Amino acid sequence: MNAQDIRKVFFDFFASRGHDVVASAPMVVKDDPTLMFTNAGMNQFKDLFLGNSEIKEPRVANTQKCLRVSGKHNDLEEVGVDTYHHTMFEMLGNWSFGDYFKKEAIQWAWELLTDHYKIDPEKLYVTIFEGDQADGLPMDEEAYAVWKELIAEERILKANKKDNFWEMGETGPCGPCSEIHVDLRPEAERRQLSGAELVNQDHPQVIEVWNLVFMEFNRMGDQSLKSLPNKHIDTGMGLERLAMVLQGKTSNYDTDVFQPYIKLIEVRTGMKYTSRRQ
Ligand code: ALA
Repeated sequence: MNAQDIRKVFFDFFASRGHDVVASAPMVVKDDPTLMFTNAGMNQFKDLFLGNSEIKEPRVANTQKCLRVSGKHNDLEEVGVDTYHHTMFEMLGNWSFGDYFKKEAIQWAWELLTDHYKIDPEKLYVTIFEGDQADGLPMDEEAYAVWKELIAEERILKANKKDNFWEMGETGPCGPCSEIHVDLRPEAERRQLSGAELVNQDHPQVIEVWNLVFMEFNRMGDQSLKSLPNKHIDTGMGLERLAMVLQGKTSNYDTDVFQPYIKLIEVRTGMKYTSRRQ
């Protein structure tokens, strides 16, 4: 499946479940002093989450051009060092504004990955928020219960606030999240050491592909959490990572998203690109 097909499958899947497919917002954020560049698909919907604008389309999907070079979600130090972080990338996302919540978001993510993109469920792990004392938040039992219907319990891992509580910036909409990770190591390696040990350990072949955020709170300037007027879904899946998975590659740079440019650079510079597995 090339990148174009991957986008189409995503849009068709969510359109058939009542989502309006909308355009990517510009990467330079205009009317939000808390953010310079779009760092996630949800940025353009911030006012809908906060209850500051009227919800006209409760279900939306898109692919958003994102830049993570500064601020809270800054991946700059990873870029050029590993095989799966980029300064600019595309994030496939589906949103529910006060409409469906955890159950549908989780079930649809699973269905899309395993039935439509045909990713082997044996290679998938999921994480749920373990809770956080300082914020007074319990473990996400609801997400755990939904996942238990879909995947073996030993594949559901608990993760802390750093990995499983998503915040747009220092302030703004936020909430616990549930991530889906894929283990791309060869079978022999997978048999020797369970992928569960490698989730969130910066292993280049055991990577997060999709983050499902359950937006419930607004982080205030004094760092307290206020409940939002409604509960929302915000998901983000890295197109380049998904392409790596579906194209059987070990680096995002070896997919059709990057290869045409890399080939052109080879011609222009007379230098040879070699894929390097970290
Ligand atoms: N907003 C979430 C993220 O960027 C989906 O990971």
